[in-house]
Amino acid sequence: MIKKGIILAGGKGTRMSPLTKAVNKQLLPIYDKPLIFYPLSILMLANIRDVLIIVNKGQLEQYKKILPPKNNLGIKITYVEQKSPNGLPEAFILGEKFIGRSDVALILGDNFFYAQSLSKILKSCTKLSSGAKIMLHKVGKPERYGVAKIKNRKIINLKEKPKKFYSDLAVTGLYFFDNKVIKYSKSLKPSKRGELEIVDLLRKYLKNNRLKAEYLGRGGAWLDTGSIEDFYKTSSFVSAIENQQGFKIACLEEISLNNNWIKKNHILKAIKFYGKCEYSEYLKKLL
Ligand code: DAU
Repeated sequence: MIKKGIILAGGKGTRMSPLTKAVNKQLLPIYDKPLIFYPLSILMLANIRDVLIIVNKGQLEQYKKILPPKNNLGIKITYVEQKSPNGLPEAFILGEKFIGRSDVALILGDNFFYAQSLSKILKSCTKLSSGAKIMLHKVGKPERYGVAKIKNRKIINLKEKPKKFYSDLAVTGLYFFDNKVIKYSKSLKPSKRGELEIVDLLRKYLKNNRLKAEYLGRGGAWLDTGSIEDFYKTSSFVSAIENQQGFKIACLEEISLNNNWIKKNHILKAIKFYGKCEYSEYLKKLL
């Protein structure tokens, strides 16, 4: 059972400059919450209470200010700084001490997921006993992502941002690994663009027949908020769902309360933390 999770929330966010000149991308708003709330909510929905957040050097204080005190959430949050964006697998090298002998989930700080029965899917992914599992989703512009080629429901190969059509199944930024991920990540060499590549890491599992796929399904939404346009699209999506249905996506305290990790007095503390705002009004309703 996977009980630890990493959020990779560094990166330069150059595609979103000047917005990202002073503030990290993951702290910018997606409708009514900072982006980081969404990937954190996904780990919490997967029943993961031990979280490592990897941030850019020098930006730690920004995160500590924006995230609710961890006691209010009933989870443990640890931070590690990344000197420069050397690639996604570096998460497992920087996170070696945090991971210890455990298996681990990784979610990219800029990934947004919304789907029917998502908690169920996530919980089934954390049951992984060995190997690795990735979440695939059909997309219209596969050249923007890592993609996986499937035959008889098995992954046969992977490619990062293929220029020519290869497959329309994107490898989303949510991964589940056994403990070998540390060893495999350390053995990787930087690619031509000078980064450790996630597809090279996944290929290590594939080679040993240890890479499995899970699907978000047709009704699910997955958005990689890499550009300003994506930020607006994701914000509109969240606003449409929240205003139509009257509940919030990624309300961290609500997830904790439903998981029985916190009690109502923690919600009161959270309301104090956020102050007078619409988010607090929503929390009041939970009481
Ligand atoms: O979103 C899914 C895609 O994410 C996958 O389909 C690709 O296979 C994978 O390579 C990745 O592609 P991106 O081009 O979106 O990766 P990007 O460099 O934008 O980084 C994703 C997030 O991780 C972003 O929030 C910044 C953060 N990051 C990235 C790197 C390379 C770090 O914190 N440290 C890093 O070293």
